[in-house]
Amino acid sequence: MSTPIPSASWPLDAVLLDFEGVDRNRIVQIPWTIRHACEGTAIFGATGSGKTSGSGRNIAKSMLGAGFGGLVLCAKPDEADRWCGWAEECGRLDDVKLFGTDTGYGFNFLDHELNRSGPGAGISENAVSILMQCAERSGGGKSEDGIWEQAARQWYRNAFDLLRIAAEPVTVSALHMMVTDPKAVEKAIALANARSNLDPRDRHDLAAVTRYFKGEWETMAERTQASVRMNITAILDPLARGIGHELFCRHTTLTPEEARNGSILVIDLPVKVYNELGRFAAVIWKYLFQCAAEREVAGDGSRPLFLFADEAQFFITSKDAEFQTTARSSRTATVYLTQNLPNLLAELGGSGRGKARVDSLLGNLQTKLWHQNSDPETNRWAAEILTKGKTVRTSTNAGFSFGSGDGGSGGSSEQELIDYEVLPREFLKLAKGGPEYDAIVTAVLFQGGREFPNGRHWLPVGFDQQNS
Ligand SMILES: Nc1ncnc2c1ncn2[C@@H]1O[C@H](COP(=O)(O)OP(=O)(O)OP(=O)(O)O)[C@@H](O)[C@H]1O
Ligand SMILES: [Mg+2]
Repeated sequence: MSTPIPSASWPLDAVLLDFEGVDRNRIVQIPWTIRHACEGTAIFGATGSGKTSGSGRNIAKSMLGAGFGGLVLCAKPDEADRWCGWAEECGRLDDVKLFGTDTGYGFNFLDHELNRSGPGAGISENAVSILMQCAERSGGGKSEDGIWEQAARQWYRNAFDLLRIAAEPVTVSALHMMVTDPKAVEKAIALANARSNLDPRDRHDLAAVTRYFKGEWETMAERTQASVRMNITAILDPLARGIGHELFCRHTTLTPEEARNGSILVIDLPVKVYNELGRFAAVIWKYLFQCAAEREVAGDGSRPLFLFADEAQFFITSKDAEFQTTARSSRTATVYLTQNLPNLLAELGGSGRGKARVDSLLGNLQTKLWHQNSDPETNRWAAEILTKGKTVRTSTNAGFSFGSGDGGSGGSSEQELIDYEVLPREFLKLAKGGPEYDAIVTAVLFQGGREFPNGRHWLPVGFDQQNS
């Protein structure tokens, strides 16, 4: 049973919290609404700068207090306890569902995706995409050429179709068997052929699947095949054994759709403890949560959702930027916290697709909060967002030099001047909370397209770590 909601309506302009800002030595209240929340939030700051206990906590509790459902991804082992504490303070503890070891929940995500009802149900391609999201966050997926990605997609697509036609359960374990043991493929083909009641569509698909496994796959250059197989195994392996098997290959007792009923789904498999399994678990839940949210056009009567990830660099995938473009119609508020820009780029690849993914996502998270930081790249980037613009100054050089014999040299040079509103070094000076700063955390708040009382798109704001 979910906690009774404060109201059965969540208009986009309802205020979730008031940021406390400073304008010319006056404290000003800056209302932040459901609309702002659904336009996405990115929080940056060095380790110990007050991200989690300052802005993160305030935003999280405002959404809990307003009755949002949500999904929480965990990087650190204390994340789940922290969320239980916040939920308790907001009277929402009963809504928290911890998905982890020994919590009794299971999520057979392939079965759920292929057998759910509603739009797009039962399409193999959607199930393929789940595993491809995981691939983006494993070593193999960082390849820029996309060849391995295409080959893996093709393998998954054929494997899903074969299992479906053979009337075998589509599980991570079954896929794992098929990629590691060619006899498992033979067996599935034999089972599919032995079925007497195949409809014409399945017959057609079976012929295509057989052509793929007996032709293209079998005759693929040995090294290429080994590399595709290795990349697929890297994803399936942690999910098909031990805790992964228990949580993802058996029954389903918790689904992303439950968030809309008010559940707070905490994926308590922190990356710092469970490594690859923790990452994949988070990415699977996040992707299916985003897909479920997107399938609905949510109105004022639909409970809003949040997607909260501290140390978000571990979980970001290509789906995030795409999802953010329509997040408002699904009434979903993404809140991503991370230390600095180089962290994100290191996780996602500093050039090509990884860099484009980071740029596109950050451009689409409209509320930004920058806490204390000593990373020059992050501080420069933040300061560049807060500029009045760039001007080009042309300077002319008479350049006449005595005794050169050529009559002197003249010319002009162009210099780009950045008119900063906040200098990069200002981010070094923000308050980090704790006893040294009397539990006060300060940050710079920026919202694209919004003007604050100081006439700018940004404002210094403060958080009391000890307020309730
Ligand atoms: N309730 C509190 N009262 C006083 N100080 C606190 C409180 N909570 C945290 N602190 C202190 O405030 C500082 C900021 O902590 P916080 O965990 O919010 O930083 P962070 O930016 O999230 O760091 P990290 O990137 O390491 O997670 C730390 O020194 C921490 O010990
Ligand atoms: Mg933190």
